[in-house]
Amino acid sequence: MASKAIGIDIGGTGIKGAVVNIRTGELVSDRVRYETPSGGRPEDIAEVVKRIVAELPKVSSRAPVGICFPAVVQHGVTMSAANVSKEWIGLDADSLFTRVLGRKVHVINDADAAGVAELKFGAAKNRRGLVIMTTLGTGIGTALFINGHLVPNAELGHLEIGGVDYETKASFAAKERENLDWATWSERLQTYYSRLEALFSPDLFIVGGGVSKNHQEFLPRLKLRADIVPAQKRNSAGILGAAWAAADRHLED
Ligand code: BGC
Repeated sequence: MASKAIGIDIGGTGIKGAVVNIRTGELVSDRVRYETPSGGRPEDIAEVVKRIVAELPKVSSRAPVGICFPAVVQHGVTMSAANVSKEWIGLDADSLFTRVLGRKVHVINDADAAGVAELKFGAAKNRRGLVIMTTLGTGIGTALFINGHLVPNAELGHLEIGGVDYETKASFAAKERENLDWATWSERLQTYYSRLEALFSPDLFIVGGGVSKNHQEFLPRLKLRADIVPAQKRNSAGILGAAWAAADRHLED
């Protein structure tokens, strides 16, 4: 496997990238970050990604480039758009970024990327069994791993509970929007994780997203059979996991 790869994490508010050593799981450059262009349209986002790659330290033109994105990404095609422009639905994102960057790009779902980072280098390193990664941000992202293998595109943030898409109730954005205190938000998290546990009986839950740095405020309040732990790679998980997945993919090509 190549040792260096570029990872780019596209989110609803920011787009960030760095060069990653995919053997050690460390960022080997500063992170470059720009705001996500308003509207989140494909060509506008692709231009920002191009600027980020141009500003990163030079790596071999054959180094893998991995991008993660907040949508279902099936074989490089973005298939949903919960919190981004609907123009992404059905778009061949692999081809768009490959054309704009002039280098081969591999796009995956953002929560899948964050989960890969935790599985390879973080909170679930070498964990077997069923691991469910969750990210609490603008939406709720989820990734399923069985014995270290990713089952891609689990969209469990949109689980319907009480007739509503539950990411609208339990994401970090919902906490902010409704000005919920930790205790009230934790009750919603309890409802959400209990439902996941009833459906999947995982061995481990991992909780990522920026708010996981405040995990002491809410994780101790949750009563579950499985362990529930904070992510370790937090801010860089998407970058790291996208880069790792792209490098892994290069091996197959
Ligand atoms: C999207 C997922 C994404 C998650 C976190 C959800 O609204 O449907 O694809 O992983 O948000 O960004």
